[in-house]
Amino acid sequence: LGNGPLVGKRVLVTSGPTHEPIDPVRYIANRSSGAQGAAVARALSALGADVVFITGPADIPPPDGVSVVCVETAQQMSDAVDAALPVEVGVFAAAVADWRVSSASDKKLKKSRDGLPELEFAENPDILKRVAHMESGRPALVVGFAAETDNVIEHAMAKRTRKGCDWIVANDVSPATGIMGGSENAVILISDEGAEEWPRMGKDDVAKRLAVKIADALTEQ
Ligand code: C5P
Repeated sequence: LGNGPLVGKRVLVTSGPTHEPIDPVRYIANRSSGAQGAAVARALSALGADVVFITGPADIPPPDGVSVVCVETAQQMSDAVDAALPVEVGVFAAAVADWRVSSASDKKLKKSRDGLPELEFAENPDILKRVAHMESGRPALVVGFAAETDNVIEHAMAKRTRKGCDWIVANDVSPATGIMGGSENAVILISDEGAEEWPRMGKDDVAKRLAVKIADALTEQ
């Protein structure tokens, strides 16, 4: 048996991108290395939590010591989240594709013969928003992420309200910051107490600080 403030607490972390197939060889996706999500899962596990790590196809391997659920699409991620519930804490760090191709082809689309493909899109489920609005079985603490390129605090506060989550971990991913795909992050934690700006630090340190904050929030309840 381990120790730490989160022993006996079940948490889920979504991470990585989702891939939405166009045909068997092509997909649309958001950019995401999965590094921040994996670091959060590792940090929560280090504090003793029972972590279900639900990951899309990421660049890096999942952390040790967590239950890993590998998915490809947003719909699969949404189903995996439902299967992981109930949890005390949900951290939604995945970069979920907002749309999927509504009728993905089961054969590779041929280049010249068919001309340009006409793709129709359908909206993907917003997993964070759905879980945050659950009337029964909602995690006690729901944490979302927001990657913004401008007016970070303002946009993230609006997002927190819109999504119905308790906290938003917001970061500025405009290209000049070098954060996207890098090892550091500069985040602002948005809660009902306002905006807390954290200094720029490694993604692992962001994760550790967030995990401690989560443990504190659970013990305060
Ligand atoms: O709306 P936006 O994609 O910027 O919101 C980001 C937050 O919402 C992240 O926490 C992300 O994991 C979550 N999200 C989700 N399902 C979606 C889209 C975003 O869980 N379909």
